[in-house]
Amino acid sequence: MTVVDDVKSRLDIVEVVSQRVPLQRSGRSFKANCPFHQEKTPSFHVFPDRQSWRCFGACATGGDALSFVMRAENLEFGEALRQLAQQTGVPLPQRGQRPKDEAVQKINEDACAFFQRTLASTQGANARAYMEERGLDKQAAEAFQIGLSPTDGDSLKNHLTREGHSLEQLVSAGVVRIGDDGMHRDLFRGRLMFPIRDAQGALVGFGARTLDGSEPKYLNTPQGPSFDKSRLLYAMDRARTDIRKDGAVIVEGYMDAIAAHQAGFKNVVAQMGTALTEFQVDALRRLTGKMTMALDQDAAGQAATLRSLDVILENYRTKLVKHQGPDGSPQASDPDPRIIVMPPGQDPDEVIHKSPREWAKLVEEAIPAINFRIRSARENGESATPQGKAQIVAEVAPAIHALGEGIQQASAVEMLAQELDVPIDTVKATLSRPSVARRTQRAPQRPNGQVASPFAKLDHDPVEEYCLQLLLGFPELREHADGLRSEFFKRHENRELFSQWLGAGPGLDKDETLAIIVKDNSNEELAGHLNALVEKELLPLTNNARIAALMEVATRLEERNLRELKAEEGIRFTESPPDLEDDEHDDILQLNQRIKNNEDLRRGQVQEITC
Ligand code: UTP
Ligand code: MN
Repeated sequence: MTVVDDVKSRLDIVEVVSQRVPLQRSGRSFKANCPFHQEKTPSFHVFPDRQSWRCFGACATGGDALSFVMRAENLEFGEALRQLAQQTGVPLPQRGQRPKDEAVQKINEDACAFFQRTLASTQGANARAYMEERGLDKQAAEAFQIGLSPTDGDSLKNHLTREGHSLEQLVSAGVVRIGDDGMHRDLFRGRLMFPIRDAQGALVGFGARTLDGSEPKYLNTPQGPSFDKSRLLYAMDRARTDIRKDGAVIVEGYMDAIAAHQAGFKNVVAQMGTALTEFQVDALRRLTGKMTMALDQDAAGQAATLRSLDVILENYRTKLVKHQGPDGSPQASDPDPRIIVMPPGQDPDEVIHKSPREWAKLVEEAIPAINFRIRSARENGESATPQGKAQIVAEVAPAIHALGEGIQQASAVEMLAQELDVPIDTVKATLSRPSVARRTQRAPQRPNGQVASPFAKLDHDPVEEYCLQLLLGFPELREHADGLRSEFFKRHENRELFSQWLGAGPGLDKDETLAIIVKDNSNEELAGHLNALVEKELLPLTNNARIAALMEVATRLEERNLRELKAEEGIRFTESPPDLEDDEHDDILQLNQRIKNNEDLRRGQVQEITC
């Protein structure tokens, strides 16, 4: 899900607007005097079901919460997004993170090759023996590019400076650090090196395991803009395809993930030594609705798993994101991850090496996370007293409510009743007590999910994107784009790029246009989106076919816009029939005239292409 979607899903249009304009209820919608122009009778409407607003009067414009704030506060897209992200607690991507730091990646690649050579050399004999003892086979070691850092503390630095990297660059990449004595030293010494790649396969850092028992057990590349543990999942680049197919299995350690892949379980990723973050859950949920987590038996591990589960649950409750199924259609997520209960004292790495079948069975038999939650709430709570029991119910209530009504929920309620030794009806009554239910329902839910566009559930809109690709790719199409208006673009990132394209003006070639748009883009989201659009290949078409294609998408966008307009007008009309005495009636006449004009215009366009 994009940051824009994330921010929007946490906003309620009625709340946003009524903070600035006093709204009057009118059936299922609200109205007010339009804040954007002078008027005596309200022609400004807010539609909670559609999460939209529209002025049917002089402004004749509308949009969503984000565009309302842009207009009301006279903010640019990037500014409005930043403000609302802050308000809703959505983290914005750090500036400078994208475009990826290619210099850092190059240093890491060079270092990685150097570590691999060191492992293969005579220096590597002990490390190779260690790997063998751990059951790491050659193929896996090669696939994961495992290496060894020399013990002396200078070799890598010397090698990389010879390759042309400056000391400063090496420090900023994190492979070299400046000691107390002011000397530059290799950060990693005598450690088994695990290169860490991001989801796209860019080499962003290393995890380095001790071979002599020195602390810490794993030394990682220092946290920084490219190496951000809260955003990375180890082996994600290799696991993506299988995660889409089979769901994601999340383990704790690098060694666990490698062992799994080595044994053919390729849908496995590892956390980076911290509880899952919102960002990681988002990344996984874009690929799958099915998540399974291996659970460490010790108390600290269990507490960490619970924290991760809370992040997954919160993510499920607050975001309407659906992932795409294998055929590209949106699919619902399973709200309840599963938990692999490991045999005491063993981690996945050991189990897998002992018996891949045993591991497969453990994954197969993973229990619903809710069971784990209930048990751990009971074990950590005061289950002997009535107050304690009520407290435990309240604690697991959000997770139970999130299951939605159905078998999963019913069996969770049953289990809770059993664990607490309380009649099931009592548990049900407690769960539905307002004070308990409120804990759950705080998260903004889109009212009955009406959506304007069939793509609103995706985090992109193929029609809008195709239109932009055509415009950005072929400057000569500009003269055929008169009919396009920024309001036709429902996704903000597309609307913004369209406006910027429009602003770049005619008479420029493709690169000049892009240069202007790129220069104007202080916003990370937009810059990334633009990049993706420009890089995506278009089918080769003849000049005329491209014009026709543009006309067609323009028509589709316009029709969609008109449908929306009519739908909103319909709601407005049924809920506050116009008083024929006042000038509101004129607005409707004007709107109908506009729609008619649009239709005439479009018919004209289509005729032009076909003849
Ligand atoms: P583990 O201690 O379970 O390590 O830490 P492991 O991966 O199973 O390694 P082996 O089997 O002992 O060789 C789990 C993860 O926590 C992070 C690493 O990501 C590790 O894979 N970690 C652990 C650190 O970052 N630093 C540490 O000092 C320890
Ligand atoms: Mn381990």
